[in-house]
Amino acid sequence: MSKNYKKHQAYIAGRDKMKVAVITGASRGIGEAIAKALAEDGYSLALGARSVDRLEKIAKELSEKHGVEVFYDYLDVSKPESVEEFARKTLAHFGDVDVVVANAGLGYFGRLEELTEEQFHEMIEVNLLGVWRTIKAFLNSLKRTGGVAIVVTSDVSARLLPYGGGYVATKWAARALVRTFQIENPDVRFFELRPGAVDTYFGGSKAGKPKEQGYLKPEEVAEAVKYLLRLPKDVRVEELMLRSIYQKPEY
Ligand SMILES: NC(=O)c1ccc[n+]([C@@H]2O[C@H](COP(=O)([O-])OP(=O)(O)OC[C@H]3O[C@@H](n4cnc5c(N)ncnc54)[C@H](OP(=O)(O)O)[C@@H]3O)[C@@H](O)[C@H]2O)c1
Repeated sequence: MSKNYKKHQAYIAGRDKMKVAVITGASRGIGEAIAKALAEDGYSLALGARSVDRLEKIAKELSEKHGVEVFYDYLDVSKPESVEEFARKTLAHFGDVDVVVANAGLGYFGRLEELTEEQFHEMIEVNLLGVWRTIKAFLNSLKRTGGVAIVVTSDVSARLLPYGGGYVATKWAARALVRTFQIENPDVRFFELRPGAVDTYFGGSKAGKPKEQGYLKPEEVAEAVKYLLRLPKDVRVEELMLRSIYQKPEY
């Protein structure tokens, strides 16, 4: 066993004392719920989204309630320079990170021939390239810490949804990206999180939708993430699909 390998293992073991999680799209919905769940487990957080006023409020609440350190900054994952700047500032603040949740995403729905060029491009920029940029920016740090990259895709990342073809295509592509990152980087654990319908602001809707219409609560998705991150470091959860019992089973 080389001296460097031993040093690296000791470094990884030491990080359990101060775990840092990065979350994109943390200003509301699933991202906000994951931020809350990980703060409960003592994670320091780096939160990114475009709504900085929302991030400020969430950061204040979590640091007061759980005594954790919360860094936040403007982030637009559709802009390469914004992702690079966010990663640079986060790494300057915390040194290294242990968990990166690439969650930022959006969806436009309708028949494929009705989708506009702008809508399709925006979904590709955020749901696909945004994930790629986010993971790329933190990859070396995750390798140093033996960390976890969580990519929030969807249950539609491996099935079809009529009137959602553009969105679905970006999520299938994001799934391919996650698995390829995993093969190329065995030192990092890649975890594809595939929720079914969740009661958030997604797709321009309002939060507060009834469970009986098939929606999970974002807190339920976040609870599953928190639980899976507690597993020993030699367990690699590759994907999780979870749906409400009120959502029709479709594969
Ligand atoms: N809700 C569902 O039914 C459902 C089901 C399966 C998967 N998902 C996936 O879950 C993820 C989170 O969605 P959600 O349901 O929580 O929706 P949401 O309530 O609309 O939240 C979306 C989050 O993404 C952020 N975001 C959007 N564009 C961004 C950009 N260009 N740069 C940085 N952040 C951006 C938003 O923040 P700002 O606007 O402040 O930037 C917001 O925090 C998405 O990837 C979505 O595809 C959702």
